[in-house]
Amino acid sequence: MPFYSDEIVEEVRSRSDIVDIISQYVKLHRRGSNYVGLCPFHNEKTGSFSVSAGKQMYYCFGCGAGGDVFAFLMNYENETFSEALQELADRAGVTLPKREATQEERTRMDRRSRLLEIQKEAATYYYALLRGERGRQAHEYFRKRALSDETMRRFGLGYSDKYSDDLYRYLKRKGYDDMLLKDSGLVTFDEKRGAHDKFWNRAMFPIMDVRGKVIGFGGRVMGGGEPKYLNSPETPVFDKSRNLYALNVARTTKRQGMLLCEGYMDVIALHQAGFDNAVASLGTAFTTGHASLLKRYTKEVYLTFDSDGAGIRAALRAIPILKEAGLTAKVIHMEPYKDPDEFIKALGAEEFEKRIESAENSFFFELRVLEQNYDMKDPEGKTAFHNEVARRLLGFTGELERENYITATAEHYHISYEQLRRLVNTLGTRGAGQRRAPEAPTRLKSGMNHKKKQEDGNHKAQRLLLTWLAEEPGLFEQIRTQVAPEDFTDELYRRVAGILYEQYEKGEGNPAAIVGMFHDDEEQQRRVTEIFHAALPGPEEPGEREKALRDVISRVKRDSLEAKRTRLDVTNLADMQRFIDAVSGK
Ligand code: GTP
Ligand code: MN
Repeated sequence: MPFYSDEIVEEVRSRSDIVDIISQYVKLHRRGSNYVGLCPFHNEKTGSFSVSAGKQMYYCFGCGAGGDVFAFLMNYENETFSEALQELADRAGVTLPKREATQEERTRMDRRSRLLEIQKEAATYYYALLRGERGRQAHEYFRKRALSDETMRRFGLGYSDKYSDDLYRYLKRKGYDDMLLKDSGLVTFDEKRGAHDKFWNRAMFPIMDVRGKVIGFGGRVMGGGEPKYLNSPETPVFDKSRNLYALNVARTTKRQGMLLCEGYMDVIALHQAGFDNAVASLGTAFTTGHASLLKRYTKEVYLTFDSDGAGIRAALRAIPILKEAGLTAKVIHMEPYKDPDEFIKALGAEEFEKRIESAENSFFFELRVLEQNYDMKDPEGKTAFHNEVARRLLGFTGELERENYITATAEHYHISYEQLRRLVNTLGTRGAGQRRAPEAPTRLKSGMNHKKKQEDGNHKAQRLLLTWLAEEPGLFEQIRTQVAPEDFTDELYRRVAGILYEQYEKGEGNPAAIVGMFHDDEEQQRRVTEIFHAALPGPEEPGEREKALRDVISRVKRDSLEAKRTRLDVTNLADMQRFIDAVSGK
């Protein structure tokens, strides 16, 4: 489904400087012909993130994220390829041709916009019901929960009626067909009862995306009853792991940081009290998608979770995700109240402000929870705890940061600074710190941890040969006589080799364009970018260089033959003969 011709994509690419674009988001320093900085895709203290002006690509040696200028925007801003293209075209003053959408695209876009239309119709309908005669009880419910009419308006709150197919009939009258209604998540169909509404007799909370479009709903029973909250299922327009409740309002806050809550009511109560930086995940666990979304708007996240066991567990899960995304996490304490909604009602906004100011550093929060698993009165338990603390301190990779945490921890737990430091160092040299905390997520954002995957030796040779080719176009004539694209046994490298050979034959090597061909598949694009970013022996070691290249070529040839041999039909004598000739170098 390419939206635009290769020519126009190349036009936009050639007029966009990747260093310029990335500098808007990342502080880059010049180093030789490259630029380096702190990787925006994982949390780090040393600059592993490198941008090549010559190749117009970026690559992180820490987490393996990489790509061209389009990929950067797609990954950083969560944009689609066409959105990234549009943005760069606007910047560069290139007018994209108005293009007729293909039938397939039109159908898909049509469906999406029809589904969004339905959400909006439903929201309007629920909204009106709340304000009418039938919504009186719901209106009363919201009032009892201390919401003002202005707050109800601002959040578009509504009511779904008692009849179990009220909305269905309303939407049918508007002309939507059953298939579409089924996909909207608002109506369910079954053999016995026919069509019925997902939500009935509930206080309704429309959920909006960052741009303020309604994409789904939460519905609460008024008073007791199960389930307390019902939420829209995921649909083509409702992706729970990439949207946060009230972010459409919170994104423009003037307050510092974001308050991350568990419930819709918590968010609304906070906004009403003046904390317009409150958001919540949508009845699901906090994900890396949420973290990267938040990262666009803030650097600091205050966990405003319930003070019960479930809230603590949720906070423990969210903290490593936030940290890995490069966000600072702090924990707000609501005791003796259960959640922010109750807290605000009882003590008011000013007291809550104080709780924000005294929010706990997430590391100390984690330690405090951890401590409860140990018998601190028993010297053995206490020692085990101190060992675990030291192990976690090793997780801070920045020297100064680790030092500061050791000092603060020693003070906090009345451990001698010298002893704690020695413990950390001993564990460090034993390599125990390399182990991740068990609750740490193993895969995060684009390309994280891929690098750690073991790469086959032979595939590595193929990758290196491509690196040579990309770095030194002058070697092409020599290499082509010995290795053909078909000799690359790795499917992806074979494709890249084919494209690169073709480019050189035309006398125009363009690595970034090759990376651009893999926009549909993040993993493949990462591997292709990796090719173009690998380092080769420097020109000051001519003998080394020649030998390295010779080794790589013979390795690739040997593997190619090996692969041919296993594919070969050994009963075919002609094949056998050719093979033997090839091996013996005839
Ligand atoms: P109130 O009782 O209205 O104050 O709720 P709350 O805002 O305190 O929310 P609570 O802590 O009970 O739950 C937090 C979030 O979890 C809610 O906003 C819902 O998204 C979700 N949730 C709560 N109860 C249920 C349930 O029974 N089913 C589902 N699917 N989600 C729920
Ligand atoms: Mn509550």
